[in-house]
Amino acid sequence: MARINENFNKLTAGYLFPEIGRRVSAYADANPDADLIRLGIGDVTLPLAPVVVAAMRDAVDEMGTDKGFRGYGPENGYDFLVDAILEHDFRSRGIELAASEIFVSDGSKQDSGNIQEIFGTDCTLLVTDPSYPVYVDTNVMAGRTGPVDDRGYYRGITYLPATEENGFMPGPPSEAVDLAYLCSPNNPTGAVATRENLEAWVSWAKDCDAVILFDAAYDAFIQDETLPRSIFEIAGAKDCAIEMRSFSKRAGFTGVRCAYMVIPETVMGTTESGERVSFNQLWGRRHATKFNSVPYVIQRAAAATYTPEGREQTAEQVRHYMKNAELLRKGLADAKFTVFGGEHAPYIWMRTPDGQSSWDCFDSMLSRAKVVGTPGSGFGPSGEGYFRISAFNSRENVEEAIRRITAM
Ligand code: MLT
Repeated sequence: MARINENFNKLTAGYLFPEIGRRVSAYADANPDADLIRLGIGDVTLPLAPVVVAAMRDAVDEMGTDKGFRGYGPENGYDFLVDAILEHDFRSRGIELAASEIFVSDGSKQDSGNIQEIFGTDCTLLVTDPSYPVYVDTNVMAGRTGPVDDRGYYRGITYLPATEENGFMPGPPSEAVDLAYLCSPNNPTGAVATRENLEAWVSWAKDCDAVILFDAAYDAFIQDETLPRSIFEIAGAKDCAIEMRSFSKRAGFTGVRCAYMVIPETVMGTTESGERVSFNQLWGRRHATKFNSVPYVIQRAAAATYTPEGREQTAEQVRHYMKNAELLRKGLADAKFTVFGGEHAPYIWMRTPDGQSSWDCFDSMLSRAKVVGTPGSGFGPSGEGYFRISAFNSRENVEEAIRRITAM
């Protein structure tokens, strides 16, 4: 008899976004004339940049020739992409990394879910709460937690509340934990970590020999050049941090799929007998076993985003979404909603009006404004009482959503 992995029974509900999708579909079926505006899942809406399309076309043509055809690619990514990443995302900001420390993949969702495999199942873990649901759910599936309680906390996870008081960017805890997930710019709160904040985290991690799993999928949305885009801008981070980056939001690749992870050779874990082992080696082994590289055509498309035209065209997309975020922030604040985020991230984090629960707010936004958002409680217990609005949409839809919400 094939037994199931019982850890799956501990999961509270379906994965957040399909769950929202089901509720929205049920509403749309019952109300076929409702003209819904979708500001829920953070999915890009602008077409691919011309330079990306051209690079894909050229790569397809190349693959159709004897000389240009390629089969399996190098597991960790083609040199042309890895070199562009090293140059533009790191060296340009004073960070030196080796090519062997970059692992190109098909998405940060996968990376942030899969990375836990290289850590012992008895590792303790910490999330800031609310957080991207993949961090918690994948550790639940792996058996690294106990059951969930009736407030939504899984036993065995340290939850650090991200609150209005701490600017939704809590500092490190007083106790030691083995693995800490951090995300900046933050999904879902839209907050951003300062240099001082990350310095405190790195210092804590080095003191307690923890590993920080730093999700920087939204780095391109940072508007202030003095804010850190990478945790490796912080001295000492190469000894204790792993970073995830993605082309999804910064270049509209949610349907194209390309991302990468940085695992410095100097981030070490310990075996039962006390021997030190590099997590880079473990991930390299795992990647080679379970992954066969991102398609050549896609890697060429990703590399095109680093050309001068690519940088300008993708920056223009980011400017479009950030203008939406500014309009949402302002429009909602003018109508006396309490809003956060949206300055260095494409997400507005809104306090629900009149103390509504997050799901009640979701229902009333859907039925009264015909606007789909994301209930804050779906990201963790401390998200209760908040509602996330995504800036990924057309200007017209965002302006109409503001009109409808403020007229509610
Ligand atoms: C979100 O809406 O939180 C994101 O789009 C989810 C993701 O990137 O997987």
